Amino acid sequence: MLDANHRADEGNAMTSPGSTQPVAWTRASIQREVDALKDEPGAMLPILHALQNRFGHVPDAAVPIIAEALRCTRAEVHGIISFYHHFRTQPAGRHVIQVCRAEACQAVGARQLEAHAKERLGVDYHQTTRDNEFTLEPVYCLGNCACGPSIRVNDDIHGRVTAERLDRLVDDLTTTVVEVK
Ligand code: FES
Repeated sequence: MLDANHRADEGNAMTSPGSTQPVAWTRASIQREVDALKDEPGAMLPILHALQNRFGHVPDAAVPIIAEALRCTRAEVHGIISFYHHFRTQPAGRHVIQVCRAEACQAVGARQLEAHAKERLGVDYHQTTRDNEFTLEPVYCLGNCACGPSIRVNDDIHGRVTAERLDRLVDDLTTTVVEVK
């Protein structure tokens, strides 16, 4: 049964957002991922992780395939995907910025930092900037509690992040397209 503690734990249990390069999905490739894990005990979460690791998100097309393989309803699959903040149903931008919302970071300014991140990027959590550069996500503990507020940018965890430092990280990652005539 799912409860708040499961969700609070998810930040530690999940893979980092940019650890593998996503590949394009097909129904056949989704089916192969599902078939490889469907007989494991508690297969739902491993399957969802495998799909997100491989494709960068859990495509809508995976829902009926998972439901059939695990003999559950599509609504149940949707319920699990939406319960865990980690799972995204749309492809992420080139860079994923996760802001820690857990208690230790909140005690040292994470709320102000997340407000600044939203304003700077012009997006809310679970959204991607229009230029497809950044996706902003919440996370619940990055294991860096003594050095909060903490964020993860792709595979890298940063501690004691101020608004200015976040701006510098974003600036460094922003691609400048130079038009050559
Ligand atoms: S509470 Fe933020 S890293 Fe643990």
